[in-house]
Amino acid sequence: MKLKTVDLAIYRLIREEETRQKDVLEMIPSENYVSSAVIEALGSVLTNKYSEGYAKKRYYQGNAVIDDVELLAEERAKKLFGVPHVNVQPYSGSPANTAVYFALLDPLKDKIMGLSLAFGGHLTHGSPVSFSGKYFKIVSYELNEKGFLDYDAIERLALKEKPNIIVCGATAYPRIIDFARFGKIADKVSAYLLADISHIAGLIVAGAHPSPIPHVHIVMTTTHKTLRGPRGAMIMVTQKGLKKDPELGNKINKAVFPGLQGGPHDNQTAAIAVALLEASKPSFATYGKQIVKNAKVLAGELTRYGFDLVSGGTDNHLLLIDLSNKKVNGAVAALALEVAGIVINKNAVPNDPMPPFYPSGIRLGTPAITTRGLRKKEMKKIAQWINEVIEEMEGEELLKDPSSLSSSGQGKEARSAFWRDFKEKVWKNKKLLQIAKDVRTLCKKFPVP
Ligand SMILES: Cc1ncc(COP(=O)(O)O)c(C=O)c1O
Repeated sequence: MKLKTVDLAIYRLIREEETRQKDVLEMIPSENYVSSAVIEALGSVLTNKYSEGYAKKRYYQGNAVIDDVELLAEERAKKLFGVPHVNVQPYSGSPANTAVYFALLDPLKDKIMGLSLAFGGHLTHGSPVSFSGKYFKIVSYELNEKGFLDYDAIERLALKEKPNIIVCGATAYPRIIDFARFGKIADKVSAYLLADISHIAGLIVAGAHPSPIPHVHIVMTTTHKTLRGPRGAMIMVTQKGLKKDPELGNKINKAVFPGLQGGPHDNQTAAIAVALLEASKPSFATYGKQIVKNAKVLAGELTRYGFDLVSGGTDNHLLLIDLSNKKVNGAVAALALEVAGIVINKNAVPNDPMPPFYPSGIRLGTPAITTRGLRKKEMKKIAQWINEVIEEMEGEELLKDPSSLSSSGQGKEARSAFWRDFKEKVWKNKKLLQIAKDVRTLCKKFPVP
């Protein structure tokens, strides 16, 4: 029976979300639109199967087809990235990073060195609020005043702290990552080096960002960002990794299953295989390069409008904007832009004086709108809209004082009520709703896959 007949409520919600995704400019840098082929694999009968273990070594019967699916996904990943070993079973990026740590580190004893969350690292790179910071010793590096990775400082920190693993890669870093330099630093202190390329995997495949493969031991990537696959992740071991530790592949596999996970999501594995095939086509290289071109145009235009871009621009798919010079914080900007049909996320900026829920910045990116076919002309229009939205909000001298924004203590309820009323007001703003209408008109010209 069709979903519509079985569960009208969920059917309608999915249709509603489909419409939202069509009608807005999706500019959260970690999001994308997958192809209908990927969705078809994801929604296939492979979801019915249990297949704990690995190809040809399963704990359940009936896995001949699943073995072929998983082997094909592995083969495609190895070829695309040029690695000798891959595990395609991680449910997502966070469990994949967890698996790497469990494969290589002693909990409570060993040390992870990663980019601080407040400076663009991911939670799983050693943030004290995540398992990575609770179960391992951590030491974090930061960006320099200009918003760039400071490799000399990272080297000094590594020499001092002697981490067991160094994580390079980020969630909100708009610049090229010098994996070769990280490789030298890790070698100097005999640490494992993990490149978390979740955000930039598609750019690397497309040749729009240097590859970490020759320089690192392990590469983790989610499959659902610039790589344009289903939600999921892969852990790859490089030649350099096998040279350092010939057992690295086995250690990773054991950490994923049975160490951390049970049965793999075979429908997800099939969809990853499809995405990897799509990413191997010449059209994907064009796509990846266009993501960067679009981001650069957007960065140039926004700078012209007086926006302060962290690091002064971008080399990749994302822009981090410090709104301190505007009278709007990141939370207000994100809300107003959503009302105007431009979906981005609020984000802390380096040395942010504001609390995480009301940070000073916003983060936006071009992977999803590039998939829809938007180019230079549309980037200029988007920059103009963003400027109009922020100008419209600048009159609202709101929530600027960090001391009034602590999430506990007196006044918390009054503040929530204030914020609720404010949201209601913004959702009725005529100027923003007019921009949303213009956005919808533009979106109609660029159908989603
Ligand atoms: C760099 C990086 N690593 C890991 C992850 C975690 O991925 P997931 O959300 O699939 O757990 C993310 C997700 O945002 C990320 O940006």
